[in-house]
Amino acid sequence: MFEIKDIHVAADKNEIVKGVSLTVKPGELHAIMGPNGSGKSSLSYAIMGHPHYKVTSGSTKINGNELLDLPVNERAHRGLFLGFQYPHEVPGITFGNFLRNCANSFEGNNFGVADFYSLIKEKLADLKLNEKFVGRALNDGFSGGEKKRSEIAQLAILKPKYAILDEIDSGLDVDALKLVADEIEKIRKTNKTGFIVITHYKRLLNYLSPDHVHVMAGGQILKSGDKNLAEEIETDGYEKFIK
Ligand SMILES: Nc1ncnc2c1ncn2[C@@H]1O[C@H](COP(=O)(O)OP(=O)(O)O)[C@@H](O)[C@H]1O
Ligand SMILES: [Mg+2]
Repeated sequence: MFEIKDIHVAADKNEIVKGVSLTVKPGELHAIMGPNGSGKSSLSYAIMGHPHYKVTSGSTKINGNELLDLPVNERAHRGLFLGFQYPHEVPGITFGNFLRNCANSFEGNNFGVADFYSLIKEKLADLKLNEKFVGRALNDGFSGGEKKRSEIAQLAILKPKYAILDEIDSGLDVDALKLVADEIEKIRKTNKTGFIVITHYKRLLNYLSPDHVHVMAGGQILKSGDKNLAEEIETDGYEKFIK
């Protein structure tokens, strides 16, 4: 299980996340919905280990083992993955080399260039990304939608135990949205990955089947429910949940 317990996060000495708890079981999909500035990205960064986001109290465990004492790469090796809201452009390192090195840093993997190429080619095809992406610099000049699909290709290759996807739907047209959602559901079924999917809009949830939906505002989870909660947000907006 992935257990987030009473997490508080501060950036620049401001408390942004004020006590969030969430338990994700293998293969479960939780959606966190909330207006801009709720602290959704800060929560994700802090859990993954971004140095600007300090966890001031609380714990985050995978199968009972604390992650917060570990450096980012170790958190990844324990099975945590973060799909960024704004993936960074990294000129000078190709998408293929980056991902092959990431994959090979996991115990038991030793992909040669050719093996990896066939693997990634298949994933790129699933996501309707041209195979030339392998040789392009990571996210450099990718469109918004291509960056998001590249995050999903990374997820599909790395097969984490738990994945946080921060606004993976932003910048995606409806066809790409469906491809991305299908890939998420596929990984969920085959690998039993547990997901926290952060989104503003219900439209992504038209293609995914969340087990739990949470409303987050002002650094806290204000309400949790099932898929009907997303419908309620779509109809009534976030205002009614905010005291
Ligand atoms: N590095 C930072 N330093 C100071 N304030 C920050 C920092 N990052 C985010 N914040 C503030 O924290 C609040 C929540 O931001 P964010 O986590 O990005 O929300 P969301 O992802 O829900 O839109 C915002 O008011 C934002 O300005
Ligand atoms: Mg955000």
